[in-house]
Amino acid sequence: MSSGGPGRPGPHAVANVDRVDGVSSQAIENEKRIAAEAAAELVIDGSRVGLGTGSTVGYLLPALARRGLDLTCVATSVATEIAGRELGLNVVAFDQLDRLDIAIDGADQIDGAGWVIKGGGGAHTREKIVAAAADRFVVISSSDKVVDALSAPVPLELLTYGLAATLRALAPCELRDVPPSPDAGAIADYHGSVEDPERLAAWLAGTPGVVDHGLFPPSLISEVIVARGSDVQRIRGH
Ligand code: 5RP
Repeated sequence: MSSGGPGRPGPHAVANVDRVDGVSSQAIENEKRIAAEAAAELVIDGSRVGLGTGSTVGYLLPALARRGLDLTCVATSVATEIAGRELGLNVVAFDQLDRLDIAIDGADQIDGAGWVIKGGGGAHTREKIVAAAADRFVVISSSDKVVDALSAPVPLELLTYGLAATLRALAPCELRDVPPSPDAGAIADYHGSVEDPERLAAWLAGTPGVVDHGLFPPSLISEVIVARGSDVQRIRGH
């Protein structure tokens, strides 16, 4: 796939020489691929599959397509929909299916308690709807996304009606310089403390004008697959 979301580089756009905490970006890309390929093996013939968004999902799509299974997929973004179809996956509109067997998606941060921040690509509203509709929601990640404690930013999707007032209520909060979501929501980032994710999630969800936020609770997540070097670590959720 060519993009991890609005304004984000795809899997091949990262220079090999960059380093994140001593791990080369090439090593991180390999970890994303390994986690994605492990998740693709979980999908069984005849499944209804939710496809996430981002560069890690960019490795999932060909791995799923290579398996040649009879699948019905829904996509969380236009980029994933296009990339999935190009690879021969059967991607349908998410307006007829009322549940999915499995959904697989990437993450921006994963903490030790199983909370996940998503929405780096601004697709978190659709990603959360798809995750919630799935019997099994699997998060796939390279090792650099695992953190001791979550930190800002927390992605938000906001209604454009009353946007200035919503941004004021959510301060510190900044609009992201990206196109609106496919559902016409404005994409923003909350920059305050994430010390208590449960409390923050409730506050964000209860703020008028917030369509959804990028905090995914452990109760939504069945399993996290993290690749560390060539090892695959599986962390069970609920
Ligand atoms: C998009 C997302 C992505 O899953 C998240 O940003 C991780 O992206 P990547 O796999 O490119 O690191 O939540 O809204």
